[in-house]
Amino acid sequence: GLVTTKEMFKKAYEGGYAIGAFNVNNMEIVQGITEAAGELNAPLILQVSAGARKYANHSYLVKLVEAALIENDLPIALHLDHGADFEICKACIDGGFTSVMIDGSHHSFEDNIALTKKVVEYAHDKGVVVEGELGQLAGVEDDVKVSAEDAKYTHPDEVEEFVDRTGVDSLAIAIGTSHGAFKFKPGQKPMLRFDILEEITKRLPEFPIVLHGASSVSQEYVKIIQANGGNLADAIGIPEEMLRQAAKSAVCKINIDSDLRLAMTAGIREVLFQHPEAFDPREYLKVGRAYVKEVVSHKIREVLGCEGKA
Ligand code: G3H
Ligand code: 13P
Ligand code: ZN
Repeated sequence: GLVTTKEMFKKAYEGGYAIGAFNVNNMEIVQGITEAAGELNAPLILQVSAGARKYANHSYLVKLVEAALIENDLPIALHLDHGADFEICKACIDGGFTSVMIDGSHHSFEDNIALTKKVVEYAHDKGVVVEGELGQLAGVEDDVKVSAEDAKYTHPDEVEEFVDRTGVDSLAIAIGTSHGAFKFKPGQKPMLRFDILEEITKRLPEFPIVLHGASSVSQEYVKIIQANGGNLADAIGIPEEMLRQAAKSAVCKINIDSDLRLAMTAGIREVLFQHPEAFDPREYLKVGRAYVKEVVSHKIREVLGCEGKA
């Protein structure tokens, strides 16, 4: 059934694995993810962004996840990804979510604390858990490159006070990951600051840490997209070996969206490019969904380590 992440994170921390938090936007994505997790008996977080709520509408997403729970006997948490303000968090808490993120990372430390605390008080009162964030993810945005030097990594000195004063249940940190399919410039070497993670873990023993921007941008799907009329040259993600290492640490939740987008796009492109006469949406969405399932199975087995942990 629908659960919070409390128990999941406790078991993941102790067991040295992580739970995949996958972004959902439509039925085929929900089905691809939950079929994979169901077959592998893996605990699951399905997360919804503001953009997803705008695209699919809150009720449709909640009902799709409820349908997935009827089809798969799994612990699933329904989570708001990157809640920007109190209002969207409240709407999701009141509307059936079991977990919300309040992303105050771009505010000042004090404003982030005040906003996060307000959400925590409302959420805990209703049995919902909250993820906060400290630090800003590095990234390549248009032609402004945020280099490793400029990246606003999480300051280990701030984490204890933030967690104590807000009461958050988990903390997203910035150690070198970034959102999207272009995480590093060509030639730039992917690097995660495991030393910062270790320092944070010392200040927050037993506390669940979250990694955003953790897609690997598998070249397998990039190649399919490229071979079928797409243009995603230079797409690059976080090497799987680094994510495996993170999953064994205090990192209990690993966020994955871009890898699902690439898989879905690869499947749809493949069918439409190779069969220009195709016009039944089921024909191409079916292949997109199968590729989403394939990616999620791979993550659960080879990266997160949460197979059989449901
Ligand atoms: O962190 C961003 C997630 O990948 C969601 O992206 O806001 O385009 O739905 P979105
Ligand atoms: P990716 O873009 O690396 O998949 O990250 C997704 C994410 O962090 C959602 O919050
Ligand atoms: Zn994110």
